[in-house]
Amino acid sequence: MKYDGWAIHTEQEIQIIAEAAKILSRLFGHLVPFLRPGISTAELDQIAEEFIRREGAEPAFKDYQPPFEDRKYPYTLCVSIDSEVVHGLPSPQRILQAGQIVSVDCGVRLAGLHADMAYTFAIGAVPPSVQRLLWVTEQALLRGIAQAKAGAALGDIGHAIHSFVKNYTFAVADNLTGHGVGRAMHMPPDVPNTGQRGKGPRLPERLVIAIEPMVHMGKRATCKGVDGWVVCTRDGSLAAHYEHTVVVGRNAPRVLTSFDPIYKALAHV
Ligand code: MF3
Ligand code: CO
Repeated sequence: MKYDGWAIHTEQEIQIIAEAAKILSRLFGHLVPFLRPGISTAELDQIAEEFIRREGAEPAFKDYQPPFEDRKYPYTLCVSIDSEVVHGLPSPQRILQAGQIVSVDCGVRLAGLHADMAYTFAIGAVPPSVQRLLWVTEQALLRGIAQAKAGAALGDIGHAIHSFVKNYTFAVADNLTGHGVGRAMHMPPDVPNTGQRGKGPRLPERLVIAIEPMVHMGKRATCKGVDGWVVCTRDGSLAAHYEHTVVVGRNAPRVLTSFDPIYKALAHV
């Protein structure tokens, strides 16, 4: 009863989610050389969709229908620039410029199973304060992931993320959480980016979750943009977002997505 609908998967299902996660991780490496001033976010979206289909998989965000809503997400990527936190819509009018930070979020479906991942890129040079925002958010993700062991409390993940971010003058976005992932893009449980140590249900082995801290340079409040999708920081401050698909393991978390293809590609540009 406690785990009703939770994203607990069989070892066979996890193998397929891992395959989807590999395609997704390679996609991010493939995108790196295109993430330059002058490209539109719609072009990035098209490059991503072609890559995923060439790999024999499907873009999971495309036609995604939020629960209880009568609309579908029309693109492969979410591309969120500067003060946009998540769910930025690709557009031929949005042209990347040097000095921006760009969060790319994508999901891949393979044989009905999903993986989810996000990374925030600096376009050209950004000031040290912005580099610190990116580093803190990525570190916060790693701190959260380290808690994903069987028997830990769900609140341990959010606590690890939030308590790390609080050491800096940054804020964790309110109302945005990670989630179970696998047979669907979004499954129970929600995985909050704040929490109390030892609080909440215990994590079972083979639970697959997307852990995804969003961190603001300013205050934590968010607001919805006019297109009904994009979420922005209310104070207009910059936001970063990193996400991995993770399996709760008996002794250690298993991270299915990887930033290695990104790091390798960044070393060559
Ligand atoms: N990547 C988002 C998440 O991590 C989901 C995108 S929803 C969509 O939860 F509508 F953009 F597809
Ligand atoms: Co997600």
